[in-house]
Amino acid sequence: MNVKRFLLILIAALQCYTITWSQQINTPTMGWSSWNTYHVDINDSLIKQQADFCVNHGLREVGYTYINIDDGFFGGRDPITGKLLIHPVRFPHGLKPVVNHIHSLGLKAGIYSDAGANTCGCKYDNDTIAKGVGFYGHDQQDADLFFKELGFDFIKIDFCGGSTTGNGDYLALEPKERYTAIHRAIQNTGRRDVRMNICRWDYPGTWVSDIALSWRISSDIRPRWSSIKNIISQNLYLSAYAGNGHYNDMDMLEVGRTLTDEEDRTHFGMWCIMASPLLIGCDLSTLDSTTLNLLKNEELIALNQDTLGLQAYVVKKDVTNDTYVLVKDIIKRNGPTRAVALYNPTNAAVDMSISFAELDLGGEVKVRDLFQHKELSLPKSDYLQVNVPAHGCRIYKLTATERLPRTLYEAETAYLSGYQELYNAKAVGTAHYVSDSLCSGEMKVTNLGYRPDNDLQWRNIYCQTSGSKEISIKCPTFTDDMVMYISINGASAYRFTAKDTHDGLLTFTVPMKAGSNSVRLYNDKEAMPEIDWMKIK
Ligand code: GAL
Repeated sequence: MNVKRFLLILIAALQCYTITWSQQINTPTMGWSSWNTYHVDINDSLIKQQADFCVNHGLREVGYTYINIDDGFFGGRDPITGKLLIHPVRFPHGLKPVVNHIHSLGLKAGIYSDAGANTCGCKYDNDTIAKGVGFYGHDQQDADLFFKELGFDFIKIDFCGGSTTGNGDYLALEPKERYTAIHRAIQNTGRRDVRMNICRWDYPGTWVSDIALSWRISSDIRPRWSSIKNIISQNLYLSAYAGNGHYNDMDMLEVGRTLTDEEDRTHFGMWCIMASPLLIGCDLSTLDSTTLNLLKNEELIALNQDTLGLQAYVVKKDVTNDTYVLVKDIIKRNGPTRAVALYNPTNAAVDMSISFAELDLGGEVKVRDLFQHKELSLPKSDYLQVNVPAHGCRIYKLTATERLPRTLYEAETAYLSGYQELYNAKAVGTAHYVSDSLCSGEMKVTNLGYRPDNDLQWRNIYCQTSGSKEISIKCPTFTDDMVMYISINGASAYRFTAKDTHDGLLTFTVPMKAGSNSVRLYNDKEAMPEIDWMKIK
């Protein structure tokens, strides 16, 4: 074989490897869902029509491929066999023809159920026919029906029937147990391509990434600004839990309903950069061109569907103005291209700015406005300054000639193995993020320690070169009775006490490797100090 031929084969093999590798990560689910506009008032022709509009408007072409039927299709259960019945008036021919229609358009079909016995609609939308139709007691039977018999490709699984308040039957089920059992039943169907979405209305715990592709982090979205703002704020410090094809779900889109154009842009843009699933919630038959153009903004969609699968994290909080700058790598981890959002949730316009150095970028930086689809012509400067209107955000793609190493790692961007929002963190002893006006970014992590799985980890610390690095960690509450262990890249740990600190600052030098490193702070048996940030020289 001559050299040229060998090189060609090598390049082809590498391309093939890259494609296979990037296909392994699922990007956030995109599509349409019936709930926001129709609640339980759905029927087969409506679902089929919306699927048709999805194709006719060119939405399928830009990635919206899932057509999800939410609550409202249930028709009770057969009293003898226990088989799920479909609503006889809304879906007189059952669900199969609807799924077939969706599939015939090259789209995927999604369905809804509950981890308990009753759905939410049965209580809150008075859809009493949906009593006893959830998975509870029927895991395998329902999984077989949805995925083997009817051919659905996605399922959202609610929890009204499992909670004591949301079902009227006062079942108090354990979410992890229930969702894991349902996941097992879905696996038993033999289908490995079914996307599972958990709807427990708060971040459930780190166990969710083992079973679900996405999970809701908030209560139901509403078509008003306060709701959009609350959901964004609930997701600001959850970036560590999105990754490897698993995502925080900010709920279905209210774009194109009652928000102002500015708010619609902020809503869509922030869902994109925070890597949330993008499920359109409006009536596709009455879309106006502004809404359609926004939903089809391919430059924003590219941030959402970026194959690194990262959620932007808060890099700067302006405490006087209450505005935020968020950033994430796109295309290549620690590469020269980053996506940035300047987000102003307040009721007045704010002059926002951030230096390129704070965004870990150096040299010459090109800035592209992803709403305007054009490069900004900036005065020669080393920072970005923009007037952002009330309820607004600006989203840019930055391409620099130089990527600088990140030096500041805030605790609120770290992964906490025990993090969860379902139970009172103090009562069950799990670490969590809390605001503290004296801390950097006004946030810190508290309640660490006592158990091996209640640690703090910074998982992607990138070093350009290997060698000794000086690390300093701000631990505001390191008292004399505390011990903290620190392990670098899983190696045996260093042991520190308050004596090793000065003004709450712990400084030490450790070897790091070139590329990605991890730092883990823990104490398996006793309390640990609170953590504010880490800096690496
Ligand atoms: C809620 C859920 C909504 C919708 C509704 C259906 O619990 O958060 O998104 O699915 O149930 O009844």
